[in-house]
Amino acid sequence: MHIPRLHPDTIEEVKQRADIYDVISEHVVLRKRGKDYVGLCPFHSEKSPSFTVSQTKQMYYCFGCQAGGNTIKFLMDLEKRSFTEVVLDLAQRYQVSLRTLEPEQRQELQRQISLREQLYEVLASAAQFYQHALKHSPLKAMPYLQQRQLREETIQQFAIGYAPAGWETLYRYLVDDKRYPVQLVEKAGLIKPRKEASGYYDVFRDRIIIPIHDVLGRVIGFGGRTLGAEQPKYLNSPETEVFLKGKTLFALDKAKNAISQCDQVVVVEGYFDAIALHAAGITNVVASLGTALSMEQVRQVLRYTDSKQLVLNFDADAAGTIAAERAIGEIAELAYKGEVQLKILNLPDGKDADEYLQGRQPEDYRKLLADAPLWLDWQIQQITKNRDLKQATDYQQVSQELVKLLKNINNPDTKNYYIDQCAEILSLGDNRLKPLRVENLLTQVAPQRGSREKPHPTTRSHHSPLRQSPQVGKLAYADGSPTPHAPLPQENNLLEVAEALLLRIYLHYPEHRQVIVTALEERDLQFSLSHHRFLWQKILEVPSASNDTNLISTVQDKCLEFPEELRLVSHLFHLNEKTRKQMLSHHQQWIQAGVACVEQVFCEKRYRHFRELWEQTDPETEPEQWQAYYKAFFAEKLRLQELDRQRQFSIVDLL
Ligand code: UTP
Ligand code: MN
Repeated sequence: MHIPRLHPDTIEEVKQRADIYDVISEHVVLRKRGKDYVGLCPFHSEKSPSFTVSQTKQMYYCFGCQAGGNTIKFLMDLEKRSFTEVVLDLAQRYQVSLRTLEPEQRQELQRQISLREQLYEVLASAAQFYQHALKHSPLKAMPYLQQRQLREETIQQFAIGYAPAGWETLYRYLVDDKRYPVQLVEKAGLIKPRKEASGYYDVFRDRIIIPIHDVLGRVIGFGGRTLGAEQPKYLNSPETEVFLKGKTLFALDKAKNAISQCDQVVVVEGYFDAIALHAAGITNVVASLGTALSMEQVRQVLRYTDSKQLVLNFDADAAGTIAAERAIGEIAELAYKGEVQLKILNLPDGKDADEYLQGRQPEDYRKLLADAPLWLDWQIQQITKNRDLKQATDYQQVSQELVKLLKNINNPDTKNYYIDQCAEILSLGDNRLKPLRVENLLTQVAPQRGSREKPHPTTRSHHSPLRQSPQVGKLAYADGSPTPHAPLPQENNLLEVAEALLLRIYLHYPEHRQVIVTALEERDLQFSLSHHRFLWQKILEVPSASNDTNLISTVQDKCLEFPEELRLVSHLFHLNEKTRKQMLSHHQQWIQAGVACVEQVFCEKRYRHFRELWEQTDPETEPEQWQAYYKAFFAEKLRLQELDRQRQFSIVDLL
């Protein structure tokens, strides 16, 4: 599909109106520090805040993972949406009228923004319809909820409703009465086309309806429960433009403040578990949607806690144990690294929270919550449960399983602590045996040669950005996860460093811009690495009139439509403290050295080229050619030596 190009004025106005603090604070808990704000970075997991938001610059930057940019970039990365989508959304929200480069494309744009807005609207209408139907179908639905001991105010708070038993009651309401286009209602996941005949039928029929909201409280989908024993017990909305199951946690909109306050989040399995806990006044609770917790869901919810405490309250029976393990899935790695403090809460008699609270008081639950074991302790409990360590086979199995567990722990302190614990278990109460057991475990747990624990690369102590750049190369993926793309450029090769250096100076030190342009033009040089060439191109596209302090932001906007390239250059838009210090002075020399590196590449190419020609030429038959090639490659060789000197000169000068 052809995507209309937005007029630069529209983009500019959106940037003016959509204040970065307003936008980001909807997604990240921000605290004032100096004139900026700080919070936990949403793009990688961290314990202490290194994510900063500057209102004066209208930029954000994370010192931990180098994610950074303006408001638009933030939403693109966070919501994995395109430049145009984000700008359109913001334009809608901040009432910026739209201009496109080609006027006739306005309608197409309006259509694009409005799709999501219309979906929210139709979903909200459906939720109202279901709520209304609950009140007016006295036969089964209300008694069902009462029998589950739901109070009127809880039903209100969660906007619980009822989908009537007919095949097209919602269809008639939304399409016939409210005149929503049928395709829109279908896109919202509420109706499906009939297979045999023409027409549509309702997805949810004769079910209790539990609306699912996003963090901002908008209805994005529904869960529907049967009133009896029919299968499936729950039916959920299909994934739609606005409902992504892997990114959604039920009740997060209602739980987020409490999660911040308690500095802890409880994750339960079922809708009704979350509802029952909220009704009991325990409100730092969300529910997964019956699937394993995804990294994305965990990250999203951990943003609200400083100490990253996540308690999984999953069913405890034999099957439940497996459920907990499966649910942990992707969190395991975070837990072993100590990036999330994961606890496991199993309620007695294999009850879920809702069942438990039917017979017990909220205080009882709080008590169990407070005593929930850390995941590692819980695993040790599971390993040793129902085993008789005095029996040789049990002892051996337990010992092996403990070793396997210990091997997973990355943090040395944690590892030592648990080695001690396990040694204690394996000593069977005889303290004299413990040192031996510790010794034993240490040998078994010690990393094998060639294992994946890599030593840290030794870094040179030179303070030269041409030797090493401190700023990039670490896990700086914008989404904070192991990236499916190629890794970011490691600035370990001289050319990468040199080109990056020139670009950084150009972007951050306006007074040197002319020198760089002149140096490159004089010698007819190009950036060799394609992502740098891309960035340079974008820089040159900016008219020189606006080539002042706004340059970075303007260039960045130009890059936003090219996410792949942007990913490779976005670290250049920021100077961290270290780089800033390194580049405090000697700009002229840095530029000279940088340009020399860039030229060297071309020089070497020409050198090899002429040398090959020279070698292929016969001095007997073509003496003049031979002579000319010789001169040419020799000239390049001399130039290379000179360039080498220019590079060395400034580096040596700076050390
Ligand atoms: P449970 O079966 O544990 O649900 O499934 P529950 O909340 O205890 O149900 P009640 O108390 O009998 O009403 C846990 C979650 O798994 C998903 C739902 O999100 C449910 O809340 N699920 C379960 C489904 O999506 N489909 C199903 O058929 C069953
Ligand atoms: Mn239940």
